[in-house]
Amino acid sequence: MKKLQIGFIGAGLIAHGHALALRALIEGNTVSDTQAVLAKVYDTDRSKAQILAEQHGFAAVADRPADLIDDPALNVVYICTPTASHKKYFLQAAAAGKHIFVEKPLAFTTAEIREMIAARRKTGVQAQVGLVLRFEPVFYYLKMLLARERGNFGPLLSFYFRSDQEWPLAGSFHDSSWRGNPGEAFAGCLFEHSIHDLDLIRHLFGEVSVLAGYTGYRSPQAGQGIEDTATVSFALAGGGTGNLTSLYHRIKGRDLRRLEIFFERAAITLDGFKVGGFDCRYRELTVEVTGQKARQISQAEVDETYYQSIGSPPLLYPTLVSAYRYQALSFLRSLRDGRATKPGLEEGLKAHRLIDAVYAGARREEALLKIQA
Ligand SMILES: NC(=O)c1ccc[n+]([C@@H]2O[C@H](COP(=O)([O-])OP(=O)(O)OC[C@H]3O[C@@H](n4cnc5c(N)ncnc54)[C@H](O)[C@@H]3O)[C@@H](O)[C@H]2O)c1
Repeated sequence: MKKLQIGFIGAGLIAHGHALALRALIEGNTVSDTQAVLAKVYDTDRSKAQILAEQHGFAAVADRPADLIDDPALNVVYICTPTASHKKYFLQAAAAGKHIFVEKPLAFTTAEIREMIAARRKTGVQAQVGLVLRFEPVFYYLKMLLARERGNFGPLLSFYFRSDQEWPLAGSFHDSSWRGNPGEAFAGCLFEHSIHDLDLIRHLFGEVSVLAGYTGYRSPQAGQGIEDTATVSFALAGGGTGNLTSLYHRIKGRDLRRLEIFFERAAITLDGFKVGGFDCRYRELTVEVTGQKARQISQAEVDETYYQSIGSPPLLYPTLVSAYRYQALSFLRSLRDGRATKPGLEEGLKAHRLIDAVYAGARREEALLKIQA
C-alpha cells in the first residue's frame, strides 16, 4: 500500500477545490492500493489555513512553510499560492524530495520555469501543473473526435476560441486583489486565465508556428501590466489557422468559453462551457458534417466516453463531476504507479512561451498593420 501524505501551501479558492477533489477520491477509496491523507496546510493568513483544515480534515496547520516542506512525514506538496511564490516553494519542495502539484501559471518568466525544470530533473521528484482543461471530459471528447474523424471531416481550416471571465478581483467566484497587482500576478487575462486556453489549443490542434497578438487595457481595473483583453491569431504547424479572444469583464457570475472548429467538410460548436460546473458544464455541443443531420452531443455521452477511456471507477458524489476530480485522480494514480505526471513542467513551459510571444509582439506592435486616420 502506497502512502501519500499531502501538504498544501496556500489555502484560498483553488486549494478548497483541490481539497474537495482529493477528499472525494480518498473517501471513495478510488485510487486502489493507495492511502492518501490530507496531512498539513500552511498559509500566510493562518485563519485561512485553519478554515481549510477544519472543512476538509487536514490533520495539522503549519506555522511556517519550512514546518511543512521539511516535514519528513510528508511526501507530496500542493502549491496553491499566488503566482509570485510558486517558484520559491517549488524549489524548496523539490530540494526536500517532495512530489509536487503546482498551480498555473508556473512562474513569471520562462527562465524561472527552466530553473524549476532543472530542479525537478536533479531531484527526480514528480511534478504536475494545474492545466485542468485537459481533464475536462468534453475536451477529451473533442480530441478523440478530431483524431477519429480526420478522414471524414477533411483538413482543419480554422478555429475560433473565446474565453471570458468576470474580473477575478472581488467577483462572484474570486476574492483575490493580488490578481490586480503585477508584482503578484505578473499580467492579466491572457497570462492568469487564458494560459489554460493556450495549453488547450496546443493539446487539441498541435504546435503553433506563427502568432500575432494584441492586448488591451479598457476597464478602470486594468492597466499597469494587467490587461483585460487579448486577441491572438495563430498559424498552426500542422496547417490551419485560429483565433483566441480572452477577456475580463464585469458581467456578474459569467465565466464561459466558446469554441468553433471548422474543417473542410464539418463544423463543431461548443458553447457556454464552464469549468468546475456541477450538473451542467456546457450549453451546446454540436457536430455538423456535410450531408448529415447536425448532431447534438449530450453531456452524458461525453462523460461516459471519458469514464471508459480513463477506466474510472464509480466516483463518490457523482453530481460533483468536475475536471478537478479527474486531475487529482490522474496525479494520484501517477504517483502510485511511479509514472510521469502529466501535464508536466515542460508542457507548461510551452504554453508560457506562446504567451511571451504575444506580449513581446504586442509591446512592439509587431505584425499589426496600422491604419492611417
Ligand atoms: N487551475 C485553475 O483552474 C485555477 C483556478 C484558480 C486559481 N488558480 C491558481 O491558483 C493559485 C491561487 O489562486 P487562488 O484563486 O486560490 O487565490 P486566493 O487568493 O483565493 O488564495 C491564495 C491563498 O494564498 C495565500 N498566500 C498568499 N501568499 C502566500 C505565501 N507567500 N505563502 C503562503 N500562502 C500565501 C493567501 O493568504 C490565500 O489564502 C494562482 O496561481 C492561480 O492562478 C488556478
